[in-house]
Amino acid sequence: MPCTPAGSMLLIERALGRDLSGLSAVVVGRSNIVGKPMANLLLNANATVTIAHSRTKDLPGLCRSADILVAAVGRPEMIKGDWVKPGATVIDVGINRLPADANGKARLVGDVAYDEAATNAGSITPVPGGVGPMTIALLMANTVISASRAAGRALSLGDS
Ligand SMILES: NC(=O)c1ccc[n+]([C@@H]2O[C@H](COP(=O)([O-])OP(=O)(O)OC[C@H]3O[C@@H](n4cnc5c(N)ncnc54)[C@H](OP(=O)(O)O)[C@@H]3O)[C@@H](O)[C@H]2O)c1
Repeated sequence: MPCTPAGSMLLIERALGRDLSGLSAVVVGRSNIVGKPMANLLLNANATVTIAHSRTKDLPGLCRSADILVAAVGRPEMIKGDWVKPGATVIDVGINRLPADANGKARLVGDVAYDEAATNAGSITPVPGGVGPMTIALLMANTVISASRAAGRALSLGDS
């Protein structure tokens, strides 16, 4: 399983459990490494999934309908607080480096305006410190799984 979506799914499972039946999920972004595999994993967990992208109409309204909102866009703080349904689970995959400020300090931010969104969300991942470390953890897990399989042992993510 690709590391970033798999790590994001573990965070969603922690918040909402493994079965997402009856929940609506919106994934903003349709890349092959994040958006599409993320949507597939959510679908496998029985969520009702919509993939949004740059040609989607009324993105704020669509995001507001989501019980689970995944942002994988690459645009700093594009998703505003009032785009988030009260109580929603928000996964911010974006990593955007803002230019240095007057003190010469650069800053990393996600695709979600965290401070605004956190007041509405039931749970939300920060940037940095949210999906990024999960990606690294899942890269290590996938490495162990591959090594085990190469050694003739059947191991999958659920076992590790
Ligand atoms: N945390 C991690 O470990 C991790 C891992 C991978 C990536 N990332 C970060 O995740 C973000 C996305 O990465 P990616 O590789 O998926 O990016 P990508 O290939 O550039 O895809 C971005 C997606 O966002 C959509 N988009 C762009 N502007 C939009 C807008 N104004 N409204 C709605 N949709 C818009 C694009 O739509 P179109 O298809 O219509 O152009 C595209 O589908 C980046 O910030 C990247 O650095 C983080």
